[in-house]
Amino acid sequence: MLKVGVVGTGGIFKWAHLPGWLACKDVEIVAFCDAFRVSAEAAARDFPDAKVYDDYRELIADPSIDIVGISTPNLYHSEIAIAALRQGKHVFCEKPDAVNPLEAQKMADAARESGKLLMTMRNNRFSEEAKFVKRLAEKGQLGELYMGRCGWIRRRGIPGRGGWFTTKALSGGGPLIDLGVHMIDLAMWLAGNPKPVTVTGSTYRKFADRPDASGRVPEGTFDVEDLAAGFIRFDNGASLQIEFSWASNVEEEKKFLEWRGTEGGFSLVNDKLKLFTENEGVLIDQQPKFTEAAVPQHTANIRHFVECVLGREQPLITPDQGVDMIKILSAIYESAELGREIRL
Ligand SMILES: NC(=O)c1ccc[n+]([C@@H]2O[C@H](COP(=O)([O-])OP(=O)(O)OC[C@H]3O[C@@H](n4cnc5c(N)ncnc54)[C@H](O)[C@@H]3O)[C@@H](O)[C@H]2O)c1
Repeated sequence: MLKVGVVGTGGIFKWAHLPGWLACKDVEIVAFCDAFRVSAEAAARDFPDAKVYDDYRELIADPSIDIVGISTPNLYHSEIAIAALRQGKHVFCEKPDAVNPLEAQKMADAARESGKLLMTMRNNRFSEEAKFVKRLAEKGQLGELYMGRCGWIRRRGIPGRGGWFTTKALSGGGPLIDLGVHMIDLAMWLAGNPKPVTVTGSTYRKFADRPDASGRVPEGTFDVEDLAAGFIRFDNGASLQIEFSWASNVEEEKKFLEWRGTEGGFSLVNDKLKLFTENEGVLIDQQPKFTEAAVPQHTANIRHFVECVLGREQPLITPDQGVDMIKILSAIYESAELGREIRL
């Protein structure tokens, strides 16, 4: 049995990580840590033998723990992950990997040096739709994927003004780092993880002072963007347009990814997949149906991590991909600030 200690027992831990760990028959949660101790105590209520901490350093010092799960605000991911790896733990960390490329690189280096597994949540890769498109792309059925668009546009959906999400020092940014990781990663993974070479971007903050941006602490900090758009070029000639917002005046919330390939294209809009091909000179639209009850994406990602720790699967998500992701996001912020394209 692998022993798991979790750090950060807030929203995502409760609705995604806890069910994920519980769905893995080879693991047991033995320790809960949260800076807000009451939260860790509440999470541990159904685990009478588990230890409770409010300082992650005490948790990672426990030699019986094999895996550390991290679901704290973004700023703390790298510090906790690096410390846990150096203590010989495998680490499963929430996205985004880190708040800047240097920290992401330090995490990747710590994983390499320790020989332990570091994996960051990329739950969108685990939907039935994404896995199916990945198989088609790997078999060459879509041809060369050369032009993509992706985004996650919310009409109203700022995660709590004054909380850590809207405070740059804690989050690293707004919807670009929050939602962008999900969709840019999915786009890059489906296209075979080409290397990003240049980016250009714009960011806006138009809703920070409006009443409809109200949140946990209405008078609190809101120093991140509420909309980001950009363009990424890759070393294989492909390019990707991106757009992310927590609030914008659009018809409705839309989470989307589209790639155009020389043999076929696809769109994944609000998790509905469509394929666009041509046969005998006739254009064909297809809408795949998935009949099997899908395992929730986050659970599937956590299960994959555990299978990798046990040596039964090879990691689909690598620390180097995380470094590329954070380099892209950071360069888009830099581009928006300087008003020009940035070479990575
Ligand atoms: N993959 C997804 O679908 C998804 C969805 C939501 C959030 N997330 C990510 O999960 C992470 C947590 O988000 P959330 O919505 O659960 O936030 P949250 O605010 O609900 O929970 C964070 C918890 O971490 C605790 N914490 C803060 N600093 C800590 C520290 N130094 N040590 C220990 N505990 C600490 C807080 O007290 C809180 O209980 C973020 O990185 C976020 O980007 C991922």
